[in-house]
Amino acid sequence: MPNPAGMHDDLERMLLSAEEISARVAQLGQAISRDYADKPLLMIGVLKGSVVFMADLMRAIDIPVQIDFMAVSSYGQGAQSTGMVRIDKDIDISLAGKHILIAEDILDSGKTLSHLMALLATREPASMRVVALLDKPSRRTVDIRADYTGFEVPDEFLVGYGLDYAERYRNLPGVAVLKREVYAT
Ligand code: IMP
Ligand code: MG
Repeated sequence: MPNPAGMHDDLERMLLSAEEISARVAQLGQAISRDYADKPLLMIGVLKGSVVFMADLMRAIDIPVQIDFMAVSSYGQGAQSTGMVRIDKDIDISLAGKHILIAEDILDSGKTLSHLMALLATREPASMRVVALLDKPSRRTVDIRADYTGFEVPDEFLVGYGLDYAERYRNLPGVAVLKREVYAT
């Protein structure tokens, strides 16, 4: 891949090209449009990683769709490994009667998503599903799965298309594997 100003020195290899992602996102959009044809759909993006995915996926959906965003951070890790989710930014739209679809960049341990789903369930949406661009099933510690998945990926640290390492690389058009030495040190 091109290497302007050494931007990609930390990258091991490209995993998914922008074209591959675009083709898969189009398929996800078609499936979602079909499944929600007669239901008021609210897509909720989990900031910041889902921003690029949301922007593309919403345009691949050809039925009415509302969007909103949440920002969450997990705390209670380490000693308190049950983990909880703290809401840093909440949605503005009421969930009552809405069919909500949570959009995640990547499903890893599943902890963030399971806590977020438990929290949103208390607001009594009509239904709740999950779309994840990437899924690392080998890392799952919570019994949870996405209803729509873009790609199953290996247990490597990935960046690009919204995913970051220390807030970098979100703007890569595709998804790349970060060199192990970058985060192992
Ligand atoms: P989980 O609670 O372990 O499922 O964490 C999911 C979150 O961790 C994702 O929404 C990402 O923000 C982050 N994450 C997990 N794996 C990766 C990765 O390979 N690259 C970048 N971020 C990741
Ligand atoms: Mg995230």
